[in-house]
Amino acid sequence: MRKKVVAGNWKCNTTFQEGIELAKAVNSLVVEKGAEDVTVIVGTPFTHLAKVVESVDTARVGVAAQNCAAEPKGAFTGEVSAAMVKSTGAQYVILGHSERREYYGETSEILNKKLKLALENGLTPIYCCGEALPVREANTQNAFVGQQLEETIFRLPEADFRKLIIAYEPIWAIGTGKTATAEQAQEMLAYIRELIRAKYGDAVAQDTSLLYGGSANAKNAAELFAKPDIDGGLIGGASLKPDDFIVIVNAY
Ligand code: 13P
Repeated sequence: MRKKVVAGNWKCNTTFQEGIELAKAVNSLVVEKGAEDVTVIVGTPFTHLAKVVESVDTARVGVAAQNCAAEPKGAFTGEVSAAMVKSTGAQYVILGHSERREYYGETSEILNKKLKLALENGLTPIYCCGEALPVREANTQNAFVGQQLEETIFRLPEADFRKLIIAYEPIWAIGTGKTATAEQAQEMLAYIRELIRAKYGDAVAQDTSLLYGGSANAKNAAELFAKPDIDGGLIGGASLKPDDFIVIVNAY
């Protein structure tokens, strides 16, 4: 059975102190009233990871990095390796976010290295895909996303693929307040599940958690999560507000 997942992506927000307070606030709400069948994750800046792990009940609130290096270690100033992330106690790593692809030149080739290292180090990748507005306007989003998957995660052997969480985040919906409609999100995630079925078979397709991300919030989460192929959300802005985040966690 696939899991329901609500993951926060804090992006480049919160000082260390603010981040620890935020993690504690999210943890209290999740422990107190979060649906127990939902896997809750907070994706924090690297600097916060170890302390956030210490500050939450990790059985209820998982911790994710937002990136990791494409090399295992060595002379790569400023990079943070998958092994370092793992050593903080974090269990997840967000990979392939459109902001990384767009602003930091992350190609499929780079992502394949990161995926391999994340998996080798026992981290669960939350792999992001999604198209920009011109692709959507040309109605070629399925081919575009299909190719992103072909070039990266569809190269993984089944045993590794089974460890992934996949998030569809249309770039035109991120931080814009312009959420994809529940129908648009469902359509893409059903398509992705179909591609997984064709590649890895029905059991894997049924077991893979597929998330939607892009201006998901406390108001629209229930409508999104009611769709059969939407197994949860990757939440940016609203994950910085504990009271909104817990509403999303409980929106199934
Ligand atoms: P927003 O929820 O702020 O649109 O961000 C979505 C996102 O990019 C999550 O990774």
